[in-house]
Amino acid sequence: MASPMIEARDLHKRFAAVEVLRGVSLDVERGEVVAVIGPSGSGKSTFLRCLNHLETIDRGRIDIEGETLVATDADGVCRYSSDATSRRICRRMGMVFQHFNLFPHLTVLQNVIEAPITVKGLRRDEIVPQAEDLLRKVGLLDKRESYPSRLSGGQKQRVAIARALAMEPDIMLFDEPTSALDPELTGEVLRTIRELAEEHMTMLVVTHEMAFAREVASRVVFMDGGEIVEARPARDLFASPAHPRTRAFLDHML
Ligand SMILES: Nc1ncnc2c1ncn2[C@@H]1O[C@H](COP(=O)(O)OP(=O)(O)OP(=O)(O)O)[C@@H](O)[C@H]1O
Ligand SMILES: [Mg+2]
Repeated sequence: MASPMIEARDLHKRFAAVEVLRGVSLDVERGEVVAVIGPSGSGKSTFLRCLNHLETIDRGRIDIEGETLVATDADGVCRYSSDATSRRICRRMGMVFQHFNLFPHLTVLQNVIEAPITVKGLRRDEIVPQAEDLLRKVGLLDKRESYPSRLSGGQKQRVAIARALAMEPDIMLFDEPTSALDPELTGEVLRTIRELAEEHMTMLVVTHEMAFAREVASRVVFMDGGEIVEARPARDLFASPAHPRTRAFLDHML
């Protein structure tokens, strides 16, 4: 059988005195859309950031498409793969943040082609047609020469998605992609993510949008206190949460 796209084993992470991840394990298979829900401070962002090495773990193991990013030996020593290897592994994951993080001094098109040129070494004429296709896909081709300051939040977020896709990732990680948006703008961003799901992009999406999670995710992971409390098919988790903490959270959210 093929390796999972993401295989996280017993991840531990502490910030000073606070143990933020307390043994998190999760497999994500090819084409799966997994939603991560849970209260503020439960470790959702930290978990995502550890997967693509924006944060380091203290203990545990992460394999991406069968390649080891980090593993812990029998003596409890946590070792990351070489810089070159870990860069190559992490480049297979595109990440979209709550606050877009576009380059303000670059146009929409320049934002999308920047990493393919500087990181992958593609020529401008190779990447521009691809970038235009991606902007068309997210409905923003007509904004290609605009600067981010002239865009709505929803438009900025769709540019951020196009920019991540321009690196041709195998996996997309989303950290609350709509929570900085006015309610009337969340729909257009969720629609873009839903289209990626229909194309079978492997995705891990931290979200507060319960309706979206129920509809689009194949599985939902509920995190609380640095642990995965339950991870089950979306329909089951929403219909009959197994754990009282999940039930309490959902009662509060729905
Ligand atoms: N760089 C950091 N330094 C110190 N503490 C941190 C850091 N990043 C996160 N934390 C702490 O780790 C805990 C988990 O934070 P995290 O951002 O992962 O939670 P979250 O589930 O994403 O919350 P939210 O829903 O509010 O985004 C919190 O207590 C937070 O204060
Ligand atoms: Mg967060």
